[in-house]
Amino acid sequence: MSTPHNNAAKGDIAKTVLMPGDPLRAKFIAENYLESPVCYNEVRGMLGFTGIYKGERISVQGSGMGMPSIGIYSWELFTEYEVENIIRVGTAGSIADNVNLRDVIIGMSASTNSSYAAQYRLPGTYAPTASWELLSAAVKAAEEKGCTYHVGNIFSSDTFYDDAASLAEWNKMGVLGIEMEAAALYMNAARTGKNALCILTVSDCPLKGLATTAEERQTTFRDMMEIALEASIKVAER
Ligand code: HPA
Repeated sequence: MSTPHNNAAKGDIAKTVLMPGDPLRAKFIAENYLESPVCYNEVRGMLGFTGIYKGERISVQGSGMGMPSIGIYSWELFTEYEVENIIRVGTAGSIADNVNLRDVIIGMSASTNSSYAAQYRLPGTYAPTASWELLSAAVKAAEEKGCTYHVGNIFSSDTFYDDAASLAEWNKMGVLGIEMEAAALYMNAARTGKNALCILTVSDCPLKGLATTAEERQTTFRDMMEIALEASIKVAER
């Protein structure tokens, strides 16, 4: 069995999947953290791998950029491949004043300017929310690692280049950072009764005009990856 976007067979994918936006990051994670990784998908270059981390089967797959893309891949993982947990690992721009370059953000909720929720025909505004189980496991892992982290509301935007330049407005509401995928992931998890979380490292501060170097991104990416992997193990052991 496969889908239009994934040629994995049922059973090829673990119950927990880490999802970076960039499929080459997925390859990096598989090659650097997983024992015996096997590539299960190459359709559209959206590489997916399954391997072993500390005795547990874990998969890692690219999501692509933006909510339509993660919406497709995460929906298929939840509904066609019996995936229970998806942890997005990505980068963010900081919005809140106390969130600095290289900090980790754990997304408790995801505000959005996307119309993704319109499909549910709800008589109000839906609040996309992370899984408490994954969130609490990630917070424990971040504590153990001793890195600087923030937990709170993030902003999932449909635009990277944004004519409205609205970050100052989100800043007034205490939103921590901007990225482009979490809200759709959280809504797919809610709709399918599954679990999702988004962990981010701050790669740039758009309001302050600061950005990390490629080398710094690689190091902070490792911290975030290790938090996501350790959170996966904690959840598997429950
Ligand atoms: N905007 C949207 N997504 C991002 C950004 C940003 O400034 N930085 C990292 N991901």
